[in-house]
Amino acid sequence: MRRPSLGLVAFLVCLSLSRHAPRVDAKPRKSSDDGKSHEDQPDESKEQDECVPLDLEALEDYRYCQLYERVCAHQDTLITHDFRYSFANPKREMVPELPYVDIWNFPAALEANTDALRGRQPKYHLQFRTASAHEPTPALRHPSFSACTLPVVLAPEFPFNMGEFFARAVAAVHSLALDPRVTLVLLTPQSLGLAPFHSLLMQPYSKYPLITSADLGARGCPQEERKQRRRADNEEEDMDWEDGESGDAEAVPADRAVAWSPDASQPHCFKRLLYCKWDIQARVGIPLAEVAARVVSAMQAARQLPVPSLVYNGAEVTDPEPNDPQHDPRDPVQLRVLVESRHGPVRNIKNLQDLLDACKEADKRGFSAGGFTGISCAATSFSDAATGRVSRSRFLANVAAVRTAHVLVVVHGAGASNSWWMRQGSSALVELRPCLFGTKYGSWPDKYLPPQHQKSRDKIRFFALNVEDPEQCENGDIEAGLFNKSIAKGSLTWDHSYFARDKHLRLKSGPFLGFLKHVAALLAPGDTEAYSAAREADLLHGYLLPGGGLVLGQLGVKNATEWVEKEAAEVSTYNDWGEPRY
Ligand SMILES: *[C@@H]1O[C@H](CO)[C@@H](O)[C@H](O)[C@H]1NC(C)=O
Ligand SMILES: *[C@@H]1O[C@H](CO)[C@@H](O)[C@H](O)[C@H]1NC(C)=O
Repeated sequence: MRRPSLGLVAFLVCLSLSRHAPRVDAKPRKSSDDGKSHEDQPDESKEQDECVPLDLEALEDYRYCQLYERVCAHQDTLITHDFRYSFANPKREMVPELPYVDIWNFPAALEANTDALRGRQPKYHLQFRTASAHEPTPALRHPSFSACTLPVVLAPEFPFNMGEFFARAVAAVHSLALDPRVTLVLLTPQSLGLAPFHSLLMQPYSKYPLITSADLGARGCPQEERKQRRRADNEEEDMDWEDGESGDAEAVPADRAVAWSPDASQPHCFKRLLYCKWDIQARVGIPLAEVAARVVSAMQAARQLPVPSLVYNGAEVTDPEPNDPQHDPRDPVQLRVLVESRHGPVRNIKNLQDLLDACKEADKRGFSAGGFTGISCAATSFSDAATGRVSRSRFLANVAAVRTAHVLVVVHGAGASNSWWMRQGSSALVELRPCLFGTKYGSWPDKYLPPQHQKSRDKIRFFALNVEDPEQCENGDIEAGLFNKSIAKGSLTWDHSYFARDKHLRLKSGPFLGFLKHVAALLAPGDTEAYSAAREADLLHGYLLPGGGLVLGQLGVKNATEWVEKEAAEVSTYNDWGEPRY
């Protein structure tokens, strides 16, 4: 039976790709057909100077990254030519297993985290083995180790969660202070591609585009379109691109150049490769505001931020200079509040329009708090409503959008990560936590943004508003679907903390606006003294109580009703426009 060769299939794929690929005239790679084993020979060719400097001493003390030498990449496998692992070495060491990414949620085309939908996926890593007698491609059979392409494989937990990716992988890469000539490679599982945020957040740290591990291990495309010869009859024969008539010598086809490497053709083997895996306990010391400043200034330097267009209090607001770091379009006395409008099955603010209307009315009635004598509110969605996807242009538009506001209001979730792109020193984040999520299960959300922003010296001031009034919470669609049996039990993770997190909100406008006055009062630009004093006094965060009252307190209150009783704390009540009711 005749079968088309794999080589032919690959060749056809390359033909279709080659129309878009830039043509670079590269020297064909030297073929080394002398039959010598490369495993025990240090590489000696001239072009092998280290052209990407690496601080080896610093790396030695850094337990999250491991350096490997003389490594090839093929699909999801790394192949080592290091003599210490060679079978020819009588004192051979066992090839280590590369660390796994243990925890991640499937990135469904849905505006909801899939953990509550049993979206946790199996752990993954790259395979790691020594070079063998049966390497699948000429490039692997005759490896030429690139010294100028240094792949840094990044293997963070929760790779598809933007907040986690920023706080772990981006912050870690920032602190590593690598030479920008490294090639950053994100280890993605299950043949998944990159999300636009991956590339945008990593852009300051390499002059090359971020790639996936699949890109690194891609088979490559030959430089010239060669005559294809069918060799399907003989299974002993290699099913590869053949070059000329040579019977004994096997030419290594020169690949096309790739954007992620300075080499004249796609490299498959590397003198050095760094594999970095940050486990869930990994400590990243750097203040995230510093990392965020770097990310935003790279976008501005590349003039990537679009002119924003938002509707605050019914009027269009824009910023003609989003890429000018010195320019601040905000009126310093008009408090601008941007509220995330979420779609999808969970954590929506069901009466967002009522809140916007109340805000406008409050402004008319003379809103005044701290240095502000007016308030205007706008709503924006950070992702595509149908798919939950955040495209590249949407991501950049989100960055520009949050920079028009003093205060960003979000229901706990990935949207809160956009607080990092706000103007530092004069902005605040209000994180809404649905019923029980800020109290009974409060240790969960309290772990993330509050300490991150505090460690960033409150460059963005964090406020939690914990909704504990059952009238202001509604079951999320997932929980509702479980109870009305429209969602199969087996497709869900039955966990009450997920149900609490995933509730919808229907906020009463009065206490919401009352809380925004509290935020405004602690938002003096460049001066966090009053803010810090409120934190010290345990009066920073808010609890919306049954009956519509608001009480200020610290994080970690387990039952706000009982706590108010016990502490005899002062409960404020408001009319619909946030004016105190006596
Ligand atoms: C069950 O709950 C879901 C989510 O709220 C809702 O969309 C659906 O209409 C409900 N189905 C029935 C039969 O009540
Ligand atoms: C908090 O405590 C009050 C008074 O003991 C109780 O009625 C209420 O159910 C508790 N709330 C929650 C959410 O557990």
